[in-house]
Amino acid sequence: MNNFTFYNPVKLIFGRGQLEQLPEEVSQYGKKVLVVYGGGSIKRNGVYDKVMDRLAAIDAEVHELPGVEPNPRVSTVRKGIDLCKNEGIEFLLAVGGGSTIDATKAIAAGAMTDTDIWDIVTKKEAASDALPFGTVLTIAATGSEMNRGSVITNWETHEKHGWGSPYTYPKFSILDPANTFSVPREQTVYGMVDIMSHVLEHYFHQTGNTPIQDRFCESILQTVKETAPKLVEDLENYEYRETIMLSGTLALNDMLNMGFRGDWATHNLEHAVSAVHDIPHGGGLAVLFPNWMKHVLDESNAERFKQLAVRVFDVDAEGKSDYEAAMEGIDKLRAFWDSIGAPATLGEYDIDESTVEEMADKTVIARPEFGNFKQLTRDDSVQILQASL
Ligand code: NZQ
Ligand code: ZN
Repeated sequence: MNNFTFYNPVKLIFGRGQLEQLPEEVSQYGKKVLVVYGGGSIKRNGVYDKVMDRLAAIDAEVHELPGVEPNPRVSTVRKGIDLCKNEGIEFLLAVGGGSTIDATKAIAAGAMTDTDIWDIVTKKEAASDALPFGTVLTIAATGSEMNRGSVITNWETHEKHGWGSPYTYPKFSILDPANTFSVPREQTVYGMVDIMSHVLEHYFHQTGNTPIQDRFCESILQTVKETAPKLVEDLENYEYRETIMLSGTLALNDMLNMGFRGDWATHNLEHAVSAVHDIPHGGGLAVLFPNWMKHVLDESNAERFKQLAVRVFDVDAEGKSDYEAAMEGIDKLRAFWDSIGAPATLGEYDIDESTVEEMADKTVIARPEFGNFKQLTRDDSVQILQASL
């Protein structure tokens, strides 16, 4: 493995009823609180009322920013930044999923500077500070609750970019699996695909001697594979929700990738697809990941794919070449995602070849080449997208 420094300051508060900790946590940072949330799920499932109750208990002056979109938009982030500046907000509380948390990270950074937030998202400028913020997570998927990353969409230019800074770690994140009971089946599946995809992005790297990291990754993949079919049939099962929620956090809090850099080409491809078509992130990944695998698999890297196939997808490699065992593993991943109802083609989102070139252009906005396990170019994007239609 490569030398590394691990740093993750997020206070993780996990389990049933843990919202009780909210007043004590928030009161460390101030009274003027901006509560950021999405399209209303938290009002329907009662989480909004519980949060407001707890904020009332510390006499917080509460301001609200509702309406954060799935695939959060920079226009909404700018609204939040104005609110913070005009009202003198001291603390931000994101209540929702990855989109709400990512928007909150951008608002927190944007509130402390006169630089336009899009210049920070596109890395023309670096964030120099951020307001403190915490999260109450309501869906297991992105891991944003315990990392510094934020993914923001500019719907005017159809661009979606990830960014992060040392200032955009949440101060705390409260994860009560019961708050995810109301996530609909389809969205639950997207979340689990996203979780598996984060682990897979880590898994495909070119650094030697990572046996512990490999097995951490494999154990999360096995756990999600074992739990997902049960959860989709029993959405209010606390233990299944608990297992998936912790899997989601561990998949992208930098613990799995100690000492190496994963691939991340598939995420780049997915962000390009949703920049043009605004589809759910996990849905896009479910289509793209197996096609990325088939595109990059060759004799020189088949061993890694074979290890995944054997250890996670129970492929019997006896008498097979590495390449054959690898292919069988990829087919098993596809079959597994099919079995829980994840999409397999972009056509399921009414995407056809008319926008392939446009999507491919988006994959190379930041860099002409992308992917760390195997470097890809725009031509590769076109081929993977064509195979995904
Ligand atoms: O908006 P509301 O009404 O709250 O509904 C949401 C939304 O429609 C709903 N939902 C969330 N919790 C619910 C619920 N519905 C019922 N009950 C609940 N308890 O689920 C829908 C999706 O929410 P969203 O926050 O968009 O989902 P997710 O957590 O999957 O976040 C996706 C975004 O995160 C980015 C994605 O690209 C996408 O923009 N990512 C962020 C990452 C990060 N910060 O580290 C990494 C990821 O790879 C990803 O790119
Ligand atoms: Zn993801």
